[in-house]
Amino acid sequence: MTTATLTGLLIGAGHFAHIQMEAWQAVRGGAIGGILSRTKEEAALLADRYGIPAFGDWDDAVRTLRPDFLDICTPPDSHLSYAKRGADRGLPVLCQKPVAPTLAESQALVAYCAAKGVPLMINENWRWQGWYREIRRMIDLGMLGIVYHVYFAMRPGDGWGEEPYPVQPYFKTMPRFLMFETGVHWLDTFRFLFGELDSVYCQTRKINPVIAGEDLAVVHVNFASGAVGIYDANRTTYMEQVRSATYGCMTVEGTEGKLRLDENGAIFYTPRGGTEAAHEYRIPDGWKGGGATFAQQHFIDGLRDGVPFESSGEQYLQTVRAVYACYESAERQQVVRLGQTTEGKACATPQ
Ligand SMILES: NC(=O)c1ccc[n+]([C@@H]2O[C@H](COP(=O)([O-])OP(=O)(O)OC[C@H]3O[C@@H](n4cnc5c(N)ncnc54)[C@H](O)[C@@H]3O)[C@@H](O)[C@H]2O)c1
Repeated sequence: MTTATLTGLLIGAGHFAHIQMEAWQAVRGGAIGGILSRTKEEAALLADRYGIPAFGDWDDAVRTLRPDFLDICTPPDSHLSYAKRGADRGLPVLCQKPVAPTLAESQALVAYCAAKGVPLMINENWRWQGWYREIRRMIDLGMLGIVYHVYFAMRPGDGWGEEPYPVQPYFKTMPRFLMFETGVHWLDTFRFLFGELDSVYCQTRKINPVIAGEDLAVVHVNFASGAVGIYDANRTTYMEQVRSATYGCMTVEGTEGKLRLDENGAIFYTPRGGTEAAHEYRIPDGWKGGGATFAQQHFIDGLRDGVPFESSGEQYLQTVRAVYACYESAERQQVVRLGQTTEGKACATPQ
C-alpha cells in the first residue's frame, strides 16, 4: 500500500484501548495517530500519555487526522455505526470482538465492509497468544500425531460477590455474557488450533445472582476433523490466582503424544511411551504472550503486504455462528450442527 507508517484513529479510550495502545508501540509499519471517544476529555486521558491528539467528535477526528485506518475499541453496540462510517470513507477497519450485539448485525457489518470493498479484520487476539502459536507449531510438527481430544478448564476467578468483574463492571448487565463476551475467544482459538467446528452441545448456568447473564458454560465440541473438545468455563470459582495469564489450563491429546498448558503459559509435553517434561519455548513479551501486538501487527501486515487476515470478517463469522449455536443448543438442550464448513483444516498426521 505504502512505505510510510500507516496512521490509525483509535475509537474508545476504556479498559482495552489502554492495552491496545501499549501493544501498538511494538507494531512496525502502523501506529495510532489520535484517539476518539465519547468526550474529548476522556480520550485525552489516554491520548496525552502518548502525545497524540484527542477527539470527541467523529467529523473533527477524520478531518484533522486523515487516518489510513480505524481501530474500533468501543462496546459492541457502536461497532456497526463506526465500521459503516469508516467504510463510507474507504478506510480499512480493525474492529474489536464481539462483532455486534446480534448475529444479524454482525453479518450486516461484514456485508457492508465487503460491499464497500474495504479490508475488515476482527481484532480477535486470543488465538495470537504466544502459547497457542507454539501449540499450533507442535501440532504442525506432528508432535501430537492426530489430535483427538482437547479440554480447557477456564477459571479466571473474578466473578464472585456483590461487585464481580471490577476491571469490566459492564459485564454484570450483559443479558448474554459468558459465551458472547468470553467463550467466543475459545471457540475461535479452537478453530485456529483444531480446524472447523461441526457441532456443539452447550449447557449454561448463572451462579452469581447479581449478574444478568450466564457465568458458567460447558460446551462439548465436535470438530470436522473428528476430534472432540470440551470448553468448561466458570468465572465464579474461587482461584488463588485471579485472571491468570491463560485464564485456566488446557490438555491436548493425540495419537503420538499429549501436552498441557498451565495458567502461566508453560507447556508440558509427553511423547507416547515417554515421560512428561517442560517444553522449552520463549513466551513473547507483552499482554498475554504478545497476543494484542501480534494481532495488530497482522492487521498492518495485511494492509501493507496483502497477507490474508486470519480473522477477516467472513472468516470470523464462523466463530460468531458457533457462539449463537451454543446459545441455541443451551436453550433447546440439543446438539446444534454448524452446517457446511468453509475451511475444514485437518489435524496434523504423524510424521
Ligand atoms: N480482545 C480482548 O481480549 C478484549 C478484552 C477486553 C475487551 N475487549 C473488547 O473491547 C471492546 C471495548 O471494551 P472495554 O473493556 O475497553 O470497554 P470500556 O467500557 O472499558 O471502554 C469503552 C470505551 O469506548 C467509549 N465509547 C463507548 N461508546 C462510544 C461511542 N459510541 N463513541 C465513542 N466512544 C465510545 C467509552 O467512552 C470508553 O472509552 C469491547 O468490544 C470488548 O469486548 C476485548
